[in-house]
Amino acid sequence: MMKLSFEVNGTPCDLAEIDTRTTLLDALREHLRLTGTKKGCDHGQCGACTVLVNGTRINSCLSLAVQHHGDRITTIEGLGTPGALHPMQAAFVRHDGYQCGYCTPGQICSAVAVLAEIEAGVPSHVTADLGAAPPLTNLEIRERMSGNICRCGAYSNIVDAMAEVAGVKA
Ligand code: FES
Ligand code: FES
Repeated sequence: MMKLSFEVNGTPCDLAEIDTRTTLLDALREHLRLTGTKKGCDHGQCGACTVLVNGTRINSCLSLAVQHHGDRITTIEGLGTPGALHPMQAAFVRHDGYQCGYCTPGQICSAVAVLAEIEAGVPSHVTADLGAAPPLTNLEIRERMSGNICRCGAYSNIVDAMAEVAGVKA
C-alpha cells in the first residue's frame, strides 16, 4: 500500500492508502468515483479509458496509479460540464459523433489531445514530411484516432466533429 497525491480535474486529491497494483483507471473509477472514464478491454486495445496526463493522452488501464504521484490528470469530467461543454464535446453533439456513448469519453479526450499534438508538430505514422508541420488532414486525424475503437461505427461523424473544432474541412 502507498499514499498517492495528484491533481484530478484541477482539484488536489490525496489517497491515503492505495494498493500499488491499482491502475490509474481503477483509481479514477473505484476510488474517486469518476466513472466518466470507461473500462472497455482493460488491456490497451480499445481506448475507452483514455485520459490526459499533464496534457498528454494515455490509456489509463495500462498505467499504475502510483506512477502518477504529482501528475495533473484530466478526465472527461474535467473537460466540460453539461452546462458549459468543451468545444470538442459540443462538436460531438452537433455531429452525432456517438451512438451508445461508451467509447465517447475516451474519443473526446483523445480528440482534444490529437489536435494539440498536431499543433505541437508531433508527427504520426502517416506524416510524409517529418521536417514539416503535420498537415491537418482527414488521413492524419483517422490515423491518430486509430487507437480509439467505436463498436457503433461513429467514426466519420467523429472526424467531422474534430475537423470543425480544428477549423478545417473533413
Ligand atoms: S480499457 Fe484501456 S484500452 Fe481498453
Ligand atoms: S458510440 Fe458506441 S462504441 Fe462508440
